[in-house]
Amino acid sequence: MRIHRRLISLLFVVLLSLFFISLTGEEASSEKSGESLFKEHCSSCHPDGGNILNPSKTLHRKDREANNIHTAEDIIKKMRNPGPAPTHPQKWAGMTMFDVSKISNDEALKIADYIIKTFE
Ligand code: HEC
Repeated sequence: MRIHRRLISLLFVVLLSLFFISLTGEEASSEKSGESLFKEHCSSCHPDGGNILNPSKTLHRKDREANNIHTAEDIIKKMRNPGPAPTHPQKWAGMTMFDVSKISNDEALKIADYIIKTFE
């Protein structure tokens, strides 16, 4: 009987540790870098900071600033509300909208910082 109890509590401890290990695993995956988030969500249309749909609106500083996008906040605004693309007003042809359910504020900031640092 005593041994049984020990076994059960040992099992309990093992299961509990496994549970916590799985939790930290999940946290690690939401700890992605700006670069990997950018690759995941943006680089299909903005490879190397370009713009396959509208070559005059790349992510490089010169274009960004010509279009009044200066700060990380401005970039996040564009992600949250890209608006229709003037060259292709159809909804499907513009930039994808990324709301908080797709990209959290924290992740959006990482992406914006990455863009500012990377695409001079
Ligand atoms: C489906 C293609 C597509 C995806 C995916 C996409 N974009 Fe865009 N992006 C566009 C288009 C098209 C424009 C030009 C929109 C316009 O006319 O204002 C644009 C414009 C921008 C601009 C303004 C650039 C400038 O010079 O004015 C920023 C900043 C930007 N995107 C950031 C992002 C970020 C960050 C992501 C990922 C989270 C992303 N985009 C994903 C298509 C895309």
